[in-house]
Amino acid sequence: MRVAMLTGGGHCPGLNAVMRAVVRKGETVYGDELVGFRDGWRGPIEGNVEPLDVETFRGTLPRGGTILGSSRTNPYKVEGGAEKVKATLDEHGIDALVAIGGEDTLGVASRLAAEGVAVVGVPKTIDNDLSATELTFGFDTAVQICVDAIDRLHTTAESHDRVMVVEVMGRHAGHIATWAAIAGGATQCLIPERPFDVDEVCETIRRRHGRGRYASIVVVAEGALPKEGTFSVASGEVDAFGHARLGGIGDALAKAIEARTGFETRAIVLGHVQRGGTPTAFDRVLATRFGVAAIDAVHDGAFGSMVALRGGEIVRVPLADATAELKLIDPAVYEVAEVFFG
Ligand code: F6P
Repeated sequence: MRVAMLTGGGHCPGLNAVMRAVVRKGETVYGDELVGFRDGWRGPIEGNVEPLDVETFRGTLPRGGTILGSSRTNPYKVEGGAEKVKATLDEHGIDALVAIGGEDTLGVASRLAAEGVAVVGVPKTIDNDLSATELTFGFDTAVQICVDAIDRLHTTAESHDRVMVVEVMGRHAGHIATWAAIAGGATQCLIPERPFDVDEVCETIRRRHGRGRYASIVVVAEGALPKEGTFSVASGEVDAFGHARLGGIGDALAKAIEARTGFETRAIVLGHVQRGGTPTAFDRVLATRFGVAAIDAVHDGAFGSMVALRGGEIVRVPLADATAELKLIDPAVYEVAEVFFG
């Protein structure tokens, strides 16, 4: 078969590992010819395609990012975009497409599948917010990067009696924040699923200081929401999928805490550092398992499906389910973080 791949949306550690696995099994076991589209859906819209083989992926297992490049291009927002994608697939004799991405990329894949395109999806996002899979690769690496940073920030917090507000990614779900808070020993963790009251946050920090604990780490998810009327956060621009560009709450929160408590407070925005660099062993293994399962799905003709992790097993689920709803933090996990607040 002639199989194409693309990586869309925010890149994340493990993308190269998935593609390496697709190519390895595709070429050596199934005798496939593999190609890659550059920069997410922009590649098939513009006909930007390149050959891929086992050699292409030499040395890429520990490499972060994606050697194919990525973008947030939405073919359904580009004039004739979906038609151009289909025409490119025909023109290059593509029998199947493996789309590796998060909610947006897989949403497009799902629509194309419903329109008859032979697509298999692979879930990717550091946010871990896809409901059809227990975990996405990239999440473990992102959490580890946050925890490494928090471990180092404890030093400044303790030596200078400061409150350190650490803003982490995760969009509208608090997975990264909650896991980083538990593993990093945070004083507070503010997530989108639990709107917060800044006065209560300050009260907790004051109580902590009252006990002689002058160093505090507050983890705040970029999508955390203040309770109405308690705090104001500016809203930003939107991307081609209509998602708000998040970020900035850490700084605003740090200023509010310092103004209300008088305690010296600093904000650290971890930003894209969380997506950078080499994937953890866990993410490499998960990505490799997904890649092998994706090329198997192609050869089983399981189009319109996505590979997913459920109960430790790799399974196939309908692509439509992947994007049906946002996976939020399990309240039981957040309650574990809460035990250590204050
Ligand atoms: O979806 C992954 C993610 O890293 C989010 O956590 C974050 O809000 C967003 O992408 C950032 O996107 P960009 O790289 O376009 O700034």
